[in-house]
Amino acid sequence: MLKFNLIAAVCENFGIGFNGDLPWSLKSEYEYFTQTTKRRGDSTKQNVVIMGRITYLSIPKHQRPLIERLNVVLSTSMRPNELPGNVLLFPNLETAMWRLEQTDFCYKIETVWIVGGSGVYKEAMFSPRCHRLYITKIYQQFKCDVYFPEIPTAFKEIGPDPETPRGVQEENGVQYEYKIWQKQL
Ligand SMILES: NC(=O)c1ccc[n+]([C@@H]2O[C@H](COP(=O)([O-])OP(=O)(O)OC[C@H]3O[C@@H](n4cnc5c(N)ncnc54)[C@H](OP(=O)(O)O)[C@@H]3O)[C@@H](O)[C@H]2O)c1
Repeated sequence: MLKFNLIAAVCENFGIGFNGDLPWSLKSEYEYFTQTTKRRGDSTKQNVVIMGRITYLSIPKHQRPLIERLNVVLSTSMRPNELPGNVLLFPNLETAMWRLEQTDFCYKIETVWIVGGSGVYKEAMFSPRCHRLYITKIYQQFKCDVYFPEIPTAFKEIGPDPETPRGVQEENGVQYEYKIWQKQL
């Protein structure tokens, strides 16, 4: 079974988004997202990023699709011709995973990352495919209109992996910390 990890930045009031964008501007945190979702041990393989329609459209036009990763968009209302030819479109997460598994491309995938938004995170965390949650805890409240769902109790916090910067980070006066949860078997 093809598994996935989830990556999100969440503020103190559990918000992740506001007005179709991120509620904060944290350049290094976004760089961590980019580096983490791009990282591969085997350079012949590729990572996949799976996201909901609104998250995909929230990426500035000149930055999408996200480079060096296969972009998959989940939507029932978009048509394939509304997306670049190298972006895959599926109606929901399980269909996307099942279709990725069926193709020869499956052997070329290293890590599948779920990158939001709210409903996609929820569906992902309750899937048996979900392995780890990479969550940046932002130690400040922000005005938000989209929130991170409650983490199921099966997930327990583990120590940072060697690639994760340790301890409290600070940018523009905002403190945050990189955390990892893993599903306990
Ligand atoms: N802080 C973070 O780490 C982070 C990460 C990602 C996004 N964001 C922010 O979150 C906001 C976007 O998230 P969002 O939750 O509003 O929208 P979203 O999840 O990006 O997109 C929602 C759409 O995705 C489709 N979809 C497919 N499967 C779904 C499922 N299981 N659950 C829900 N939708 C599904 C539906 O499209 P159709 O209606 O076409 O069927 C739905 O309307 C933005 O503000 C963005 O900046 C923050």
